[in-house]
Amino acid sequence: MPNLLQKAWLLAAHHHENQRYNTPIEGLTLPYLTHIGAVLIEAQQALHHHPEFDADLLLCSAVLHDTLEDTDLTPDQVETTFGKEILTGVRALTKDENLPSKREQMEDSLQRILAAPPEIAAVKLCDRINNLSPPPHYWTPTKKAAYREEAQLILDQLGHVSTYLSQRLAGKIAAYPTS
Ligand code: NI
Repeated sequence: MPNLLQKAWLLAAHHHENQRYNTPIEGLTLPYLTHIGAVLIEAQQALHHHPEFDADLLLCSAVLHDTLEDTDLTPDQVETTFGKEILTGVRALTKDENLPSKREQMEDSLQRILAAPPEIAAVKLCDRINNLSPPPHYWTPTKKAAYREEAQLILDQLGHVSTYLSQRLAGKIAAYPTS
């Protein structure tokens, strides 16, 4: 009988199956699941610093964090297998695409993350830590600057849930290319 985290991993693997993303190396793409695995590893390491965190909530939300936004997985399916708390967490991590601008979508998501347990804010920090890996070569300086600024907003709003993750993210922001 697979445990809850194994169920989340298989579900994410299945639903992200045909997605890939661009890497800094021209022409090299990776399966989207690479990002999900990296966020899971980040969250697992954070758990060592936060034994008070609910491991299932943190790790399952880490694995499922992009499913509602980027795949055909439905909220009902998440709730049936993982329950209301994980569904609410994954929903908070999902942008509301009815809002007109990226900035409003981010601010709305951050408000919902702040209303959720700290494990969900921790997932958002883990996600952005991984997303601040070197960007694809074709990103313009303007796009990189905007991404860096958005990361700083995430750090300012959510950093209080974990000194460990705040320091990781602050380090990634400082090292992120500006040109
Ligand atoms: Ni992500």
